Amino acid sequence: MSESIEYRNLNPSDYDEIIRVWNEAGLGHKPKGRDNRDRMTVEISRAPDLFIGAFVKDKLIGTVIGSFDGRRGCVNRLAIVPQYRRQRIAEKLVAICEERLKKMGALVIYCLIDKENEPSLTLFSKRLGYHIHDGIVYLSKRDNWDA
Ligand SMILES: CC(C)(COP(=O)(O)OP(=O)(O)OC[C@H]1O[C@@H](n2cnc3c(N)ncnc32)[C@H](O)[C@@H]1OP(=O)(O)O)[C@@H](O)C(=O)NCCC(=O)NCCS
Repeated sequence: MSESIEYRNLNPSDYDEIIRVWNEAGLGHKPKGRDNRDRMTVEISRAPDLFIGAFVKDKLIGTVIGSFDGRRGCVNRLAIVPQYRRQRIAEKLVAICEERLKKMGALVIYCLIDKENEPSLTLFSKRLGYHIHDGIVYLSKRDNWDA
């Protein structure tokens, strides 16, 4: 029998568990930069509906973070621990995140994916209806690479 998955907002107190899930999923994190505990505490408090977790019996097994800049929505930090993959948990997390971003006014929702990340590219482009923009190059500016 498959275990029941609960989807609910993440709290600042989930921080250590969030980092565990990212590490188990192979995403890593930037403890000195945007994934710093204090920063994330502020971010979660500012937009609690956009930090969403998937739980099995209260254990965090997946995450997604939405962000809205007032024009567009972004799906970030989608991660499912290996033993719970291929159960459409990522699909469900993205669907919840999209719904909330649209409610906030996002007309366009995007995500950034490494070219080599076949599972994620397949998920977003083949299952979730995202269009791949071949002609766009991602540029970023930061004070240091820990950010
Ligand atoms: C990408 C990731 C989030 C997918 O999580 P998941 O819960 O296993 O995904 P789902 O079960 O919702 O997958 C839905 C569909 O996406 C596609 N997909 C997912 N994983 C895939 C894989 N390894 N290979 C090919 N297609 C895949 C399939 O079409 C799948 O449907 P199917 O199982 O019926 O074939 C997960 O593999 C992960 O955490 N990866 C590491 C972190 C990461 O890369 N995050 C994304 C950053 S942009």
